[in-house]
Amino acid sequence: MSEDRNQFSAGCAWIEGQYVPIAEARIPILDTGFARSDLTYDVAAVWKGRFFRLDDHLDRLLAGCDRIRIKPLWTKDEIRSIMTETVRLSGLTDAYVEVVITRGVPGPGERDPRLWTPRLYAYAIPYVWIVRPELQEKGTEVVVARNTRRIPPGSVDPTVKNFHWGDLVRGLFEAYDRDSWLAILPDADGLVTEGAGFNVFALVEGVLRTPERGILHGITRRTVIEIAQGSDIPLRVGDLRVGDLYRASEIFLTSTAGGVMPVARLDGEPVGDGRPGPVTTNIRKCYWDLHTDPRMSSPVQYLAPELTPPPKRAC
Ligand SMILES: Cc1ncc(COP(=O)(O)O)c(C=O)c1O
Repeated sequence: MSEDRNQFSAGCAWIEGQYVPIAEARIPILDTGFARSDLTYDVAAVWKGRFFRLDDHLDRLLAGCDRIRIKPLWTKDEIRSIMTETVRLSGLTDAYVEVVITRGVPGPGERDPRLWTPRLYAYAIPYVWIVRPELQEKGTEVVVARNTRRIPPGSVDPTVKNFHWGDLVRGLFEAYDRDSWLAILPDADGLVTEGAGFNVFALVEGVLRTPERGILHGITRRTVIEIAQGSDIPLRVGDLRVGDLYRASEIFLTSTAGGVMPVARLDGEPVGDGRPGPVTTNIRKCYWDLHTDPRMSSPVQYLAPELTPPPKRAC
């Protein structure tokens, strides 16, 4: 199907059992996902026609449902099929594929969340970059938020991917107010957490470090940890103080939406020599190579079989 005749080419959503063009996708205004952020979600990437670690994304989604006591009506395989179908219909070979499970729509005056029937929404749109690839080549700038703390895990469990973005968005405004555009949020004890849609890594005295507590355990973060373990890069997963960031020779951010994103400047000062460092550059290359590795990725069967690109070599 040619792109201009495909009504789904800008994106495709699955809403209440139907596949619709992304611009026509609607959710009920009373859905508690919208009204109270009562949901969990996940985002997987399709790159060169292949899903990256879709199984791991689905496992995290279902574990999140369990933790917040939502009982989804769909099996893992059914969710996988719905997500795959949104991509297949759109024809997108580089896609951002989101699935959301909400607690549902309460009946009139109903306040008992145990009684609501979960709903599922899914959509595929063109791949999203937190940091554009051209900027990744030079390295981005980022600030450490001074007036915003990450919401404590005792209030909102950050391991359950969620829409409680009040602190993350406040951090973004703080960044813009300081002539930057991305913010890393500390917690109340001065430990590094994460930012709006990304985890944080820092190379401090030759050791690659990333926080463990108070964060979403990102699939990109997991991939980087595995790359580091497989390449004998010294690694320490655990508390990282904000002060450690200022001593770091390399810093990078990780997300499904952008991959491994080198940081060139922190609070306006250069990180290392102000360019992506060798450890970051190497990990970034390995990360993207893995997207065509059959051990980590699976092909989408598109409408026209010739649209499915062949797998490439492993990292
Ligand atoms: C708060 C937060 N932290 C980290 C991440 C990175 O997770 P992943 O690598 O699974 O995309 C995300 C992704 O959206 C996020 O929202």
